Amino acid sequence: MKSIASAPAKIILFGEHFIVYGGKAILCSIDKRITVESELTKTGQIEIESQLGKLKIPKSDSYKNADSVFRPIIYIAQRMLEKFHSESGVTIRVSAEFPSGVGLGSSSACCVAAAGSISGLFGKHTKEEILKIAIDAERTIFENTSGADCTVCVYGGILEYSKDGQIKRLEFVPKFELVVANSGMIHSTSKVVSMVRQFKDKKQEIFSSLCMQEKNLIEDALACLQKNDLTKLGKLMTQNQEFLEKIRVSNDMLSSMINLVKDTAYGAKLTGAGDGGCIIALADKSNLEKTLNALAKKYECFSAKIDTNGLQRSSA
Ligand code: PMV
Repeated sequence: MKSIASAPAKIILFGEHFIVYGGKAILCSIDKRITVESELTKTGQIEIESQLGKLKIPKSDSYKNADSVFRPIIYIAQRMLEKFHSESGVTIRVSAEFPSGVGLGSSSACCVAAAGSISGLFGKHTKEEILKIAIDAERTIFENTSGADCTVCVYGGILEYSKDGQIKRLEFVPKFELVVANSGMIHSTSKVVSMVRQFKDKKQEIFSSLCMQEKNLIEDALACLQKNDLTKLGKLMTQNQEFLEKIRVSNDMLSSMINLVKDTAYGAKLTGAGDGGCIIALADKSNLEKTLNALAKKYECFSAKIDTNGLQRSSA
C-alpha cells in the first residue's frame, strides 16, 4: 500500500521579524503543495527521493547524522517504525510545486506531508497527532520553531499567531489572489533574524516605535481581511514593506520587484525573513494578469489563492 499526503506552502501576510519581539503575525497557506508518497519495504532501509536529492540509509542510522534536507523525514520514519515495532524499511518520495529556501515554508510543508504520509502506513492518525509529529520533526533542524508554519500547513487558511505560542485560525476566508515572485536569492532566516537583533540593539528607540506601529497595522489588517477591503489591505502591505525596509531586511532586488507592481497590484511586500526569498503582491481578477506580467519578464512567479484544505491524505 502507498500512503500519500500533501501539505500547502505558506506565506507571511504581515508581521515577520516584529513577531520575534512580541505582537502578532498573520500567516496564510496557499494552493501550492508538497506531496509525500511512502511505502513499506522489506529492505530494512530508509530511502528518500526528492528534487533536492536522494538518500538510502539503514533504518538504524541516527537521523542526527543526516543532511538537514533529509533529517526531519528520517526522524518521522524512525519514530513511526519504532512506535509500531515494524521490521520494515520505508521508501519516501517527495515532490514540490514550489521552490525551497525562499520563505514559502517548504520545510514545514514537507514535515507535515511526511508525517501524514508515513503515519498513514500504520493506520489513521488525527490532524493533531500529525501536527505534533511534524513540529517535533521540524525541531530536528530548527530547534526554536514556533510551530506556526506547521500549524497553518495542517489546518490551512489564515492564522494569527504570537510569540508566546498563541495560535488562532481565522474563521473568515477573504477572496483575493496573491502573486508570489521569487528573487532567486536563497536566504538564511537565522542570519537575517540576527541582523535585525543587531539593528534593534543599535537603534532601540526607532525599533520600538516600529514595533508599536506594526502592532497597530496588524490590527487594521485583521479588520480589512474580515471586510475583504483589498484597497486598504494593499496599502497596509506597502506600509509593512516600508517598516521592513527600515529594519534593513529588504534589499535592492526585493525593492525593485515591488516597484514593478506598484501601479498594478493593490500593494506588495517581501514575505518571510527577507534579504532574498519572495515578494507577494495583492491582486484580484481585475489586476491579476497585469501584475503577473509585470513580474514574469524577469522573475519566476505564480498566482496563488488561499488554501483552506491544509493537510490532505489518501492511499493507493
Ligand atoms: O523565512 P520564513 O518564512 O520562515 O520567515 C521567518 C519569519 C521571521 O519572523 C523572520 C522569524 C520568526 O521566527 O518568526
